[in-house]
Amino acid sequence: MMEADIVRRPDPTEVFDRDAAYVMQTYSRLPVVFVRGKGTRLWDSEGREYIDFLAGISVCSVGHCHPEVVEAIQRQSETLMHVSNLFYNELQSRLAERLCGLTGMDRAFFANSGAEANECAIKIARKWGKRRRGPSCCNIITLEGSFHGRTLATVTATAQPKYQTPFTPLPTGFRYVAAGDLAALDRALDESVCAIMLEPIQGESGINILRDEYLQAVRALCDEAEVLLILDEVQSGMGRTGRFLASQHSGISGDIVTLAKALAGGVPMGVCMAKGSAAETLEPGDHGSTFGGQLLACAAAIAVLDVMEREGLMENAARTGGHFIDELKKLAARHPKHIQEVRGKGLMVGVELMDVDARNVRDRLLKAGVVVNAIGDRILRFLPPLTVTPEECDTVIRSLDEALNDHNQEGKA
Ligand SMILES: Cc1ncc(COP(=O)(O)O)c(C=O)c1O
Repeated sequence: MMEADIVRRPDPTEVFDRDAAYVMQTYSRLPVVFVRGKGTRLWDSEGREYIDFLAGISVCSVGHCHPEVVEAIQRQSETLMHVSNLFYNELQSRLAERLCGLTGMDRAFFANSGAEANECAIKIARKWGKRRRGPSCCNIITLEGSFHGRTLATVTATAQPKYQTPFTPLPTGFRYVAAGDLAALDRALDESVCAIMLEPIQGESGINILRDEYLQAVRALCDEAEVLLILDEVQSGMGRTGRFLASQHSGISGDIVTLAKALAGGVPMGVCMAKGSAAETLEPGDHGSTFGGQLLACAAAIAVLDVMEREGLMENAARTGGHFIDELKKLAARHPKHIQEVRGKGLMVGVELMDVDARNVRDRLLKAGVVVNAIGDRILRFLPPLTVTPEECDTVIRSLDEALNDHNQEGKA
């Protein structure tokens, strides 16, 4: 049987209608049903091919259905998928060792998503703070424009009212300061603060890169004030920027680091890692997860790390990402009326537009067979698999060029 024959090809209209009737309408979905993926390519229910420059929002970093990850999942699912965390798990211990080696952390707690990994970080910080300076040392400072997840604690850490307002009352214990404003951070620090939590590159709010000097100064402030630095690398980690962690570009290390998204190549998994006294904070009974770190996800994650290493994907992210950003800047020079800024590190890239709605450009690109993301009406976000080639980047840039030219010709977009 041909590979394509075993793929279900549902009628898209039926899928749209059933979704509208039975699924909670929490997403503004685009009208495509993807049914198959391979490497950097996706195919929809009509058999159309797309080049994927979103990768499940930074999830499918080794490419769709990488044979080694598929094999690891198959093998593990035929052997043992899940045991309770009440028992030892060889793969979990091996994965923890591997991740600690890559991040400089001492211990890992496995969860199922980025939000859950951040919940663990918040719990560690609070317990650590209370032990250190008493019960009132429980406040965490986060940055405006951040995104840390959708659970009640992580949406409160997410300093963006649009995600919070419908869900008040929110948990207490969070303070917000403007990203990049060191003086504001200094003012917000007092004896009641146990941690500062930030993303080295704010992904959801438009690829805002925090400067090296700022991150280094934050690290120094944390050391001085004896508070923990929590680095949320859920989107920026796992080699996407050309280093395993984006914070490694700035030469800083967190006391707590969280990862998720690309960790298990599409199998849900998150991890909260900590070092020093932060790593020794949680004790039996303090925290847990039924699924966190289960065998299937661990097998997938170990295969992802093997593939990343053997195929040199971090190096490719740096090299091909550099090419992509350079070419986008050349495109910006050809479209000065529409491209305001190109920013990014490795393969975490944003293009800020003006006088053209980013969502319409995204829709044009989708029609042309290119999957990208629009953040609001101004920013296009590109997060391709780390296996992407310079030629594929050039293809996407040509499509973007055409989309902007079409917009000009039609006088609207
Ligand atoms: C930086 C960051 N933290 C946390 C999250 C939440 O992750 P999840 O959706 O897996 O809960 C995201 C998701 O986009 C993210 O980008």
